[in-house]
Order: sequence, then C-alpha cells, then structure tokens
Amino acid sequence: MEGLIYWETRVLGFYILCISLILQQTRAQEGFVSLQCCAQTNFTDPNTNISWTTDDQWYPDISSCQEISPPTKVRVFSSTFGNKWCYNLKTRKDENYLLRGIFKAGEQQRSPTGTRFDVLIDITSIAIVKSSEDAVVEGVFKANDNYMNLCLSKEMGDPYLLKLELRPLMSEYVKEKATVALKVMDRVDVGSTGAEIRYPDDPFDRIWRPEPGDENVTVSSMTNIVITNASKTSPPIQVLETALTHPEKLQFLHNKLDTGFYQYELYLYFLELNESVQPGQRLFKIYINNMEVEEIDIMALGSRYRMLVYNFEANGALNLTMIKAANGSLLGPICNAYEILQIRPWIQGTNQADKDVIFNVRGELLAHNPNNKVLVSWMGDPCLPLPWEGVFCESRDKSTAISKLDLSFQNLQGPLPQSITQLQKLRELNMSNNHFSQAIPVFPSSSVLTSVDLSNNNFIGHIPDSLASLPNLVTLLFGCNHQLSRDVPANFYRSGLDTDKGMCGGSGSLHMATGIVIGTVAGGLLLIVGVVGISFWIYKRKATAKKREFDVKGYPLTKNMIYSISSMDDIILQSISIQSFSLQDIETATQQYKTLIGEGGFGPVYRGTLSDGQEVAVKVRSATSTQGTREFDNELTLLSAIQHENLVPLLGYCNENDQQILVYPFMSNGSLQDRLYGEAAKRKTLDWPTRLSIALGAARGLTYLHTFSSRSVIHRDVKSSNILLDHTMCAKVADFGFSKYAPQEGDSAASLEVRGTAGYLDPEYYSTQNLSAKSDVFSFGVVLLEMISGREPLNIKRPRTEWSLVEWARPQIRNSRIEEIVDPNIKGWYHSEAMWRVVEVALSCTETYSAYRPSMVDIVRELEDALIIENNASEYMKSIDSFGGSNRFSIERPIAIPPTPVPTEPSPIPSQPVPPKPR
Ligand SMILES: *[C@@H]1O[C@H](CO)[C@@H](O)[C@H](O)[C@H]1NC(C)=O
Ligand SMILES: *[C@@H]1O[C@H](CO)[C@@H](O)[C@H](O)[C@H]1NC(C)=O
Ligand SMILES: *[C@@H]1O[C@H](CO)[C@@H](O)[C@H](O)[C@H]1NC(C)=O
Ligand SMILES: *[C@@H]1O[C@H](CO)[C@@H](O)[C@H](O)[C@H]1NC(C)=O
Ligand SMILES: *[C@@H]1O[C@H](CO)[C@@H](O)[C@H](O)[C@H]1NC(C)=O
Ligand SMILES: *[C@@H]1O[C@H](CO)[C@@H](O)[C@H](O)[C@H]1NC(C)=O
Ligand SMILES: *[C@@H]1O[C@H](CO)[C@@H](O)[C@H](O)[C@H]1NC(C)=O
Repeated sequence: MEGLIYWETRVLGFYILCISLILQQTRAQEGFVSLQCCAQTNFTDPNTNISWTTDDQWYPDISSCQEISPPTKVRVFSSTFGNKWCYNLKTRKDENYLLRGIFKAGEQQRSPTGTRFDVLIDITSIAIVKSSEDAVVEGVFKANDNYMNLCLSKEMGDPYLLKLELRPLMSEYVKEKATVALKVMDRVDVGSTGAEIRYPDDPFDRIWRPEPGDENVTVSSMTNIVITNASKTSPPIQVLETALTHPEKLQFLHNKLDTGFYQYELYLYFLELNESVQPGQRLFKIYINNMEVEEIDIMALGSRYRMLVYNFEANGALNLTMIKAANGSLLGPICNAYEILQIRPWIQGTNQADKDVIFNVRGELLAHNPNNKVLVSWMGDPCLPLPWEGVFCESRDKSTAISKLDLSFQNLQGPLPQSITQLQKLRELNMSNNHFSQAIPVFPSSSVLTSVDLSNNNFIGHIPDSLASLPNLVTLLFGCNHQLSRDVPANFYRSGLDTDKGMCGGSGSLHMATGIVIGTVAGGLLLIVGVVGISFWIYKRKATAKKREFDVKGYPLTKNMIYSISSMDDIILQSISIQSFSLQDIETATQQYKTLIGEGGFGPVYRGTLSDGQEVAVKVRSATSTQGTREFDNELTLLSAIQHENLVPLLGYCNENDQQILVYPFMSNGSLQDRLYGEAAKRKTLDWPTRLSIALGAARGLTYLHTFSSRSVIHRDVKSSNILLDHTMCAKVADFGFSKYAPQEGDSAASLEVRGTAGYLDPEYYSTQNLSAKSDVFSFGVVLLEMISGREPLNIKRPRTEWSLVEWARPQIRNSRIEEIVDPNIKGWYHSEAMWRVVEVALSCTETYSAYRPSMVDIVRELEDALIIENNASEYMKSIDSFGGSNRFSIERPIAIPPTPVPTEPSPIPSQPVPPKPR
C-alpha cells in the first residue's frame, strides 16, 4: 500500500454482535500444516496457539540447514541432481487452500550473485523469490487431488525456505474446478492501528495487514456489530470493526503489483459503522485505475454489510478510489477491508495415472537403493516444469505422459519394478548397466515400447514372451546378463528387430545402432503425431475496468503458459512484442546496405543506425542461404519470446517482398572469438578475470535457454564467435538460427539433420543424431578451452596432434599439465585455483558420453565459484600491492567493469557452419 490520501476515521456507534451463519467460532487448526524448517522440536506459538512442526519428515538431512541470523535456520536446497525440491502435502480434493511460504535469505544466498527461484503450487508458478528481499509468498488454489506439492524450482543459486503453512479455506476464492491459482498480493485491514490479524481471529489464518493511515487519523474500535448476511469469505469481525471514511474521497494506491498484464480479483468489504445512517445517505462511486466501476449504497440491499468482487487488469499498479456521489449523498465513502489477488492460470501436470505409477516405481527402487541421488531428486511432477533426471515426456492433446525412462549407469540393485510396465505411453526403456537382479517383469500387450535396453545387469530367467512379442518393439538389448537365458521364443527374431541376441559384445557400437533406429522410428511417428507446441496464455480481457492507463505496445509476455496447445504458430502470433520494420526503414537505416560487416549462415550482415540513433546489425537473408524460411521463423519465434541479459535481443524484423531481415542491437565489443585470437586480440589481450566473467555470462544465457519455459531450447551452434560482447563487455549469446525446442518424444525427425560447427560438435550427437542440451554443453566446453588456451578449436596448420583443441587439451589436463595449455598471454595472471575450476568444468563438458557431462546449471555454479575465488584473490593481491608486494594484478580496475569499449569494431558474424554429413 503506497499511499492513502484524504482520510479520516470517525468514532462510530456501538452495535450488537450477531453473527448469522458464520464461522467465527474457532476451529481447532483442522487441516493446518505449519512447518518450521530445520526446527529441532515441535512447538506452539504462544501468540497464535498454532502448532508448528519440523520439516524433517520431508528432509531429514540436517546438513541442509543453514543458520541465517542465529538462532533462525533456513533449509537450503542444493544438489547436483534435480532442479526442484518439493513438499508433498495432504489435501482434500476440491477444497480451497491457502498456501504460504516464508523465505529469508542468509548472507550466503545474497552474495555475490544472488539467488532466484520459482515457487510452484504443483507446477503452477505463483512467484519468483529473489534473495535481495525477504519474501512471503501466498497462493490460493483448489486442490485437484488428495495431495499437492509445493515446489521450489531453481533458477540461480540454491533455493531456501524458512516456513511453510497450508490452510484449508472453507471460502470459495477459486470456484470453478481448478483453472486458476490466485497469488495474494495484499490483504488490508483498513483503519486498523493494531497488530496484524490472523488465526485464531481469522479461522482460515489469513493475515490481515493493518493500514492505520497517517497522523490525521483517529481510529475507532468497534466491538458490537450486526452482520445479517455474510459469506464464507468475510473477514473476521476484528477486521471489519475498523474502517476509514472521508467526507469526499478515499484513495488507495498500490505501485508494486507485478509488471506485465495480469488479471486481478479485488475483494472489497464494506460494513456501515454509523448506526444512524439510512439507505441513500452514503452513496459513493468506486474507481479502479480511473474507470468507474460502480456507484454503491451499502445499505440499499437491507444489510449493513456488502462484499463486492471486481476483476481488473493491471500492469504494475492499482489505483482504488472511492468518491462521494456528486449529489444526493450526505456522507462520504467508507472502506473496511480489501484483498488483491492475482489470477494465474492453472497449469495441468502430467497425467495422473503416470504420476501414480512413477511414484510407485520410485518407491520400489528407493527401497533397494535408498541413497541413489537421482531417485532422491525425483520430486513433484515427473515432467513439468522440467522433467526429472532420466525421465523424458511428451505432451499431446493437453495431456503429458512419460515416454522414456533412462536409468542406465545408476548402480541400481534389486528387482526391476513390475509397476514400470504400467506406464501407458512409455516407448523407450533403458535400464542397462545396473545390477538389477531377479526376473524381467511381464509387459502387458498394450505396451507401446519400441526400445528396451536391459543389458549389463544380473537378470535371471528368460526374456518373457510378453516382452518379445510387443507389437512396436524395434530394439531389444539384453546382453551381459550372465544368468539370463539366451533362449528366446521361436517368433522372436522377426524382421526389423534390432537385438544383441543376448550377446555380451562391444556396447559402444550397439549404442550407436540403437540411436539411429530410434531416431528413424520416432521420425516416422512425427508425421502421425503432428505438431505439439506450447503457447502463451493471454488473459481473456473481460475486466470490469477495461481502460488502461498505460501506453503499451503489443502484449508483453507473461510467465504463465499452458502446455500442449496446438501449434508453434501460436507463439509467433501471440508473443511477438518486437518491432516490425518496413523495407524502407531498413534501407534508410543501412544507407542502402552500405556497410557490410560480415557474412553468416543466414546471409550478409550490415551495420545501420535507426532513426532514434540506435546502432544496429541487420541480417539479410540471402537468396542462396542454406538456411531458409524455417530458420527465419525459428529465430523470430524464439527470439521474440526469449529475453535474458545474456542473450542478444531481437529488436525487430522485416518480412516484405520475400525479404527476411532481422534487426539486432550492434555489439560494440565484437565477439569472444575476435578477442581471443582475432584482430582485436593482437591489440589487447583479454585478461583472465574478464574471460571468466564472459564465460559465466554466456553460461547463464545458455542456462536460461535450456530451462526456457519449462521446455528446453537447444542452441545447437554454441561457439566463441556466437558469444558477443556489448559495450560493458557483458557476454551475450547470439544466433538462434539453428535453435529449436529440445526434441520431445515425437519430435525427433528434426534432430536427424546434424548441425553445428566443426570443432565444436558433440561427438555423441554426431554419431547418434540424438540432440540434447548436453550437445550445447559439449560446445560450451570447447569455448572454455578456447578461453583457457587462446587457441582455435580446429587448426590444421598446427602439428597433427594439435589439430583438435579438445583432443590436444584433454590428455594434458588429465596429466595435470595445465601450464601447457594456458594461453601464454595470461600466464602468471590468474589464480590457479580459479583456473583449475574452469579447466575441470571444461574437461567434464567435453566428455565423449553426454551422460557424464554436467548441466548448464551446474556449470554456472562452478564458474560462479571460480569467479569469486579469482575476485577475492584479486582484491587480496591489490591489498598486498599497496605494501609493495607482487604486482600480479597491475590492471587497476574492478573486474566487473571491463575494458574500454572499442566502438569502431564491427559486430561479429558467425563463420559459415559446416554441416557434417550424418554417417
Ligand atoms: C491458547 O490456548 C490457551 C489454552 O487453551 C488459552 O488459554 C489461550 O487463550 C490461547 N491463546 C490464544 C491466543 O488463543
Ligand atoms: C512433530 O509433530 C509431527 C506431526 O504432529 C509428528 O509426526 C512428529 O513425530 C513430531 N515430532 C516430534 C519431535 O515431536
Ligand atoms: C493531515 O491533514 C493536514 C490538513 O488537512 C494536511 O496538511 C496534512 O498533509 C495531512 N497529513 C498527511 C500525512 O496527509
Ligand atoms: C452518522 O450518520 C448521521 C446521518 O445519518 C450523521 O449525521 C452523523 O454525522 C454520522 N456520524 C458520524 C460519526 O459520521
Ligand atoms: C486515481 O484515480 C482517481 C479516480 O479516477 C483519479 O482522480 C486520481 O487522479 C488517480 N490517482 C492517481 C495517482 O493516479
Ligand atoms: C447480502 O444480501 C444481499 C441482498 O440480499 C445480497 O445481494 C448480497 O450478495 C449478500 N451478501 C453479501 C456478502 O453482500
Ligand atoms: C444529480 O444531479 C444531476 C444534475 O445536477 C441529475 O441529472 C442527476 O439525476 C442527479 N443524480 C442523483 C442520484 O440525484
């Protein structure tokens, strides 16, 4: 509440309390869940009598407890596996609930890069918590099952939690069957000078914030009030018995609502507190964001109490004003309480049957493998917003199901759970290279499995007939199970079945064969399946208050989206908030394409200046371009939706006369490639701390892509020439022309075409054509090696053993000879611990098998650590310097603010990629 002007509270008469049907009789915390994270014991809060319990039932590990300001502890969630942490709480289906999370960051979460995470009710995001501010996040939702999950989904750093409260609401904030979740923005006890009001006064434990007003206000306390009709949503009497009134006008301003167009619900509560007021004596108009929504007379309906609910739409601000009616009213407006709730569309999770099955599978596997980190990280929804480690999903007809399960190389023991066979949409099952024992489960004939890999285990008995005769099965591997009979049913070796016949052979080549077969099959399926995309939710614009006071171009994107809507086109139609240029504009800006600054896969790139003075790089599609309309649409779709400080933003486009043109801001510091070993490098060496911060920036940009909209976007052409540097040397990843949404089941055909640039290409992707985010990780690893060594990824002018940067560097690193590979220009100018961190990351990124590579999220974390180490060392060395010590850090400038921009350099253009032929 930002300001409350023109008020004055009256001392009003006393009334007789007479509550009709309502629920003010205190219910005994029925259904309350009150968790105090990391508490050592259960306890009762003497102020509220609320019983708090510890959360060790969910997280028994005390090592994740961190003291923030003693003795307060928070739970801090960190793990190399998984990206979300959940509390599974019991609910009653179809009942309304209030969920409140209290988040308090410690020093560690605040510094130096900050922490950011999403708070999800099941998979519907209700808030983003940032460590820069303590947060109370409150949501209201309707349970659609007998349990719900509160999840924290990490974006940056480790999520943390202080308290969690779940309260059943008998009131019907969410009326229809789970279509929305409401985020509580504010709940105001108008005219109160006392403390906040919550349980037990409010039986639902809503917390009412007192709004006493300023020095001009005298607030009355009323104890006896008549309410003849109240609803379940009514605030408690203690809230209603204070109000603000003014002879003319009451105004409530909120300037801190979320930006972006959201719909809101505004609950207004009025109770006439002046005994002598008659109908017709207090008439006033209500304005929401300058729109008159209603003229009301509280008493007109024969009751002193009125509740009104309005829908309105706002971008950041609410102006709620009540003005005395122009004529005919004796008294000015009154207001007792109000609530502002933001409407968020409810996002449908994975289909219930699959969810139940996979939870059983998890339970059975955990029983024999209680410490398996991957299984422990399986929490909340298996597919959304990001799938669990080893789980792959597909969305079709508004339903999301599990299509692939890969738990290979997990050291798992015990039986393979029979329940796994109940996953209706499971097409690929890879349980190879574990220690599974006992018999292979029996599969129902309805199973749509196409590929099963059970090799390298300890299974006993036979391959069940049921498995061998599955109609869609194309690949079946069961070699290296020494107690498993190789006898198979007579009809087993039918044509088209790819199998190792139970033989224990070279697994590498088998893997490759499998990949291709799967790719082909999935590719065929794609034609039948049709396009599955996601789309952005644009709110229905039914607001009572329609007029907006903001001048806004297009629709800004909201964070909300529904999954599995018809097609990718929706994204183009609905999400573009970028500028559209005419060909004339482009010609003027580039002075008839005067300054050619490069040639990329898309076509030539020209430098230009827009009419407002902004310098731009204009990419024009050439007629001979190997990329085409599809790339154009790709880039347009993606770039318009994707916004991150470490990604080159698309300013606009032009699609006129068959010309396809993209307009980007001009990046004055060129590309990382230029700076490492291009012309620019000859003039000035890029120092190590700057290289590190560029690496971190680029890694963050890629992390954003990989976790974009709950559906990963793979860049497919990560390389140093695609990492551009703006005038502050902030790294921005460029060129999404090759990007595509990460393949989901049924999309695989597009991945058949191997793309990328020689020297950066993931060998696994190259050989199997199975594209994943880990391919970008490989390429990023190559970029890290370039930064470390200052060498090109591929240079056939060097001795044969040094042609490939990766092949040359890896053995040196393995033998701890990093001095051999470090760029001579930065020798002696880095902290070796920081260097080692980066070298290790680069090594793991460039692992041949993608399973061994880290995710971008992990890489960001490592690089953050490296940068901290380097910066601390730098500070330390400087302090020593002042006493005449070493001059290792002679460059006197903060690392975060890198060198003088060189505005004359052209925006770098990626070199022509070399699409290798698939084998
Ligand atoms: C808490 O419970 C005790 C015992 O039942 C009671 O005396 C006390 O008034 C309660 N406090 C509140 C704030 O309700
Ligand atoms: C705390 O309360 C919970 C729920 O009532 C109970 O399951 C748990 O055993 C209690 N813990 C202790 C230490 O009393
Ligand atoms: C209180 O009322 C006086 C007189 O109307 C006004 O000048 C003053 O600004 C008011 N104070 C606040 C904080 O609004
Ligand atoms: C109560 O209402 C009467 C009119 O019905 C008015 O004359 C009186 O001033 C009001 N009292 C207060 C405290 O506003
Ligand atoms: C709030 O709305 C009222 C009524 O439309 C208007 O008179 C007033 O100027 C607005 N105030 C602000 C700060 O926008
Ligand atoms: C109170 O009664 C009036 C008329 O009977 C009705 O319109 C209104 O919805 C009721 N409830 C509230 C909370 O105002
Ligand atoms: C208010 O006054 C205007 C003209 O002065 C008149 O047209 C209108 O009917 C009046 N409204 C009420 C509610 O008395």
